[in-house]
Amino acid sequence: MVRIEPDYEALSRAAASLIAEAAAEAVRERGRFAIALAGGSTPRGAYESLATPPLAESVPWSRTHVFWGDERCVPPDDARSNYRLAWESLLSRVPVPAENVHRIQVERGAEAAALDYERQLRAYADADSSDRPAKQTLRAHERQGDRPSHLFDVAVLGMGSDGHTASLFPGSAALHEARRWVAPVRKPGDALERVTLTYPALNLARRVMFIVAGADKTATLAEILGPRRDLSRLPAQGIAPNDGELLWLVDAAAAKMLVR
Ligand code: 6PG
Repeated sequence: MVRIEPDYEALSRAAASLIAEAAAEAVRERGRFAIALAGGSTPRGAYESLATPPLAESVPWSRTHVFWGDERCVPPDDARSNYRLAWESLLSRVPVPAENVHRIQVERGAEAAALDYERQLRAYADADSSDRPAKQTLRAHERQGDRPSHLFDVAVLGMGSDGHTASLFPGSAALHEARRWVAPVRKPGDALERVTLTYPALNLARRVMFIVAGADKTATLAEILGPRRDLSRLPAQGIAPNDGELLWLVDAAAAKMLVR
C-alpha cells in the first residue's frame, strides 16, 4: 500500500502516528512492541515527532524494544551512526529502558557485531511465547524446520536513490542470504564496513514502513513500485513481509512519477 503525504512534515507526523498506534496495539495484544529503526536522514522528523507530546505519551515505552535495520562501523557518537541519529532524535527524549535498546555493537568489528546482533534478535524472539504454543521456543521451531511468524512489529526502512534499503546494496552477496538474520556488508566503492538485517529478518515484520521523501527519489521509487522486478539492481524490491503489511509512506515530491 502507498500513502502519499503533501510534504516532509506531514509525512513525518503520519509515520510517527502509525508507529505509536502499532506500539499501543502490540502491547495490548502481545505485551511488548519491537521496532527496527532506519538510518539515513529521512526518518529524523518521524522520530522527533514520536518523541514529542502528545504522541510520546501514548507509547508504552517500558514495553518497547528498539532495534536497528543497519549500522555503519563507526563509534556510536559519530555523525554517520544510525544509533546516534536515533539517540538524538528519539531515545534520549523518551523513557525507554536502557536494556530495551538493542544497539548493533559495531565497535567489535562487522562480523562479530553481526553475530552478536543476531544473538540479541534470537534471544528476543525466543523470549516471546505469546505468538506460538507454550514452551515452544524459536530454536525448537527452527530445529523442526519451522520458522517464527514474526520478529518486529514495525520495521522502518528508507530507500536510497540507487534502490538500496537498510544496507542491502545492489549486487551485494547479502541479498542472497537465506538463513542469517544479520550480515556484515560493504557498500560498493566505500571502505566503511556495515552490518545489516537481511531479507529473512526484515520480512518477518508485521508491518514494514518505508519512509521516502524528496525529488531525488522519484524515478527510483517509480521503478521499485513498477511492474519489472530486478532484485539485484533494486534491493528494496525484495522487501515483502511473509505475513505482514508493506506500507510505502511517501511525500508528494517522491510520488510524482507514481501511476495512480
Ligand atoms: C542508512 C540507511 C539507509 C537509508 C537510505 C535512505 O543507514 O543510511 O538505513 O538504508 O535509509 O540510504 O537514506 P536517506 O533517508 O538519507 O535518503
